[in-house]
Amino acid sequence: MRVLVIGATGVIGSAVAEAFDGAGHEVVRASRKGENRVDITDCASIRALFEKLGTVDAVVSCAGAAIFKPVGELTDGDVEEATRLKVSANIDVVRLGVDRVSDGGQFILTTGIFSTRPIAGVPLIAMVNGALESFVRAAALDLPRDIRINAVCPLFINETAEQMGMKGDCSAAENAKVYLELATGSESGSIVTPGL
Ligand SMILES: NC(=O)c1ccc[n+]([C@@H]2O[C@H](COP(=O)([O-])OP(=O)(O)OC[C@H]3O[C@@H](n4cnc5c(N)ncnc54)[C@H](OP(=O)(O)O)[C@@H]3O)[C@@H](O)[C@H]2O)c1
Repeated sequence: MRVLVIGATGVIGSAVAEAFDGAGHEVVRASRKGENRVDITDCASIRALFEKLGTVDAVVSCAGAAIFKPVGELTDGDVEEATRLKVSANIDVVRLGVDRVSDGGQFILTTGIFSTRPIAGVPLIAMVNGALESFVRAAALDLPRDIRINAVCPLFINETAEQMGMKGDCSAAENAKVYLELATGSESGSIVTPGL
């Protein structure tokens, strides 16, 4: 399988790229830096990446920034900005990538556990991840040529938690295994949380 991993320099994305590599797939790593540059908040940049790469069998997105603020601190434009950074960006990857994915190919997006199990201070993170999960369930019914779409909804990743002096719930490597399982399976429209 030829697999494009967007966000491949990140905590989650680097482990995902390694997992696909380790299973013998051809991995194309992309992010805003490096050889295959893309900014998924910019449609022209997404188009340019797909134009450069040609056909891929799977597009895995582990990219998308978040706004971490309690309701009382939200300012004008925060909702739109949070949506732009994660929801619109990832939906645009799917929308602009459909014609670049092979027959029977797939998309795997990354959401996050706050969509269904929030803590205080994450209303916009909960909102964007929930929106993306709803998109995945519905898009699975629309995509042509047997193209599948699923999402991985990670718990708090150990490596991220360590950077914050906290304790996580799942290692990046354990989390990454589930992307590979989804990619080699047959389901579509699923939201899977590794470790639950
Ligand atoms: N880590 C966790 O505990 C955790 C838990 C649940 C959900 N999540 C979600 O999972 C996703 C990835 O998290 P992470 O912890 O791996 O983040 P991370 O370590 O900050 O990595 C983010 C990756 O995405 C790339 N990126 C960021 N914005 C981009 C853009 N506009 N266009 C293209 N690439 C972009 C970054 O590379 P460049 O800077 O080079 O572009 C990097 O490769 C996020 O949406 C996060 O909310 C994370």
